[in-house]
Amino acid sequence: MNIRCAKPEDLINMQHCNLLCLPENYQMKYYFYHGLSWPQLSYVAEDEDGKIVGYVLAKMEEDPDEVPHGHITSLAVKRSHRRLGLAQKLMNQASLAMTECFNAKYVSLHVRKSNRAALHLYQNTLKFTTNDIEPKYYADGEDAYAMKRDLTTFGNKTSVEEVGKVLEKMTVEESGEQEDGATQGASGDGSTPSPPSGGIERLQPGTEKQKEGDKKPSQPGKGGKEEGGGATGKGSGEHPPKSGRESKKRRKKAASEAAAKAEEKS
Ligand code: ACO
Repeated sequence: MNIRCAKPEDLINMQHCNLLCLPENYQMKYYFYHGLSWPQLSYVAEDEDGKIVGYVLAKMEEDPDEVPHGHITSLAVKRSHRRLGLAQKLMNQASLAMTECFNAKYVSLHVRKSNRAALHLYQNTLKFTTNDIEPKYYADGEDAYAMKRDLTTFGNKTSVEEVGKVLEKMTVEESGEQEDGATQGASGDGSTPSPPSGGIERLQPGTEKQKEGDKKPSQPGKGGKEEGGGATGKGSGEHPPKSGRESKKRRKKAASEAAAKAEEKS
């Protein structure tokens, strides 16, 4: 098992992995937006055949009024490769890159309240704290926890050494399970939706939200309840259109800037 920085040619396989694992999906251009804007921050886990079995899609937030901080847009590991420490390593790699490349002070993310596996990972393993609950954040009405992980000590020598140790242990034992979530129907509990025949086909062109992390549900109603995904299948945006607090703030700022410019002109 190998963890490495994502390359442009990985993005389509990351999208495929996302479609297998989460009800929140993005258009391909959103993957490219991440990959081209912050090529240092997204990582993939690949198996011995070079097949992508997990990814973390990450970015920096661009609000100049705030301290530099990163954001985890999406994280997933195929069922066949879970509980091997891959998500933990992917998250640590992305966070380390955020501190080293962009001086990030913290990293944020959103997660469904019902996503037990991810919550365990974030709270217990990675020491994220919940700083807010965003009601009805997802399009199916589920609330999100807004979480943060302090990175101010993450990049110091001790932490780098600790992370280095974790990263050195990249060889993980074979799980013995089927390789791909596509054919195994999750862990055999039948609760996972049938996988798509191909990643992009599941997306419905023209209906997806763009940029700022907008997501749409892929095949609403078919999502099923995914272990760790906690979705009903109606679920949409891990990052819905930023109609929430953050976007309001930005809109307000943009409006006041526009007003100031208009005043200058007049
Ligand atoms: N139940 C309880 N705790 C869990 C579980 C679980 N099913 N899975 C992971 N954890 C916790 C454990 O503390 C674990 O440590 P341990 O194995 O020593 O007990 C720790 O997390 C580290 O686990 P990893 O092996 O690194 O996690 P994994 O590679 O299995 O991936 C993930 C976890 C990403 C949540 C995976 O289950 C998954 O892909 N789920 C579906 C997609 C998803 O929910 N993604 C996150 C959405 S939020 C977002 O994208 C920002």
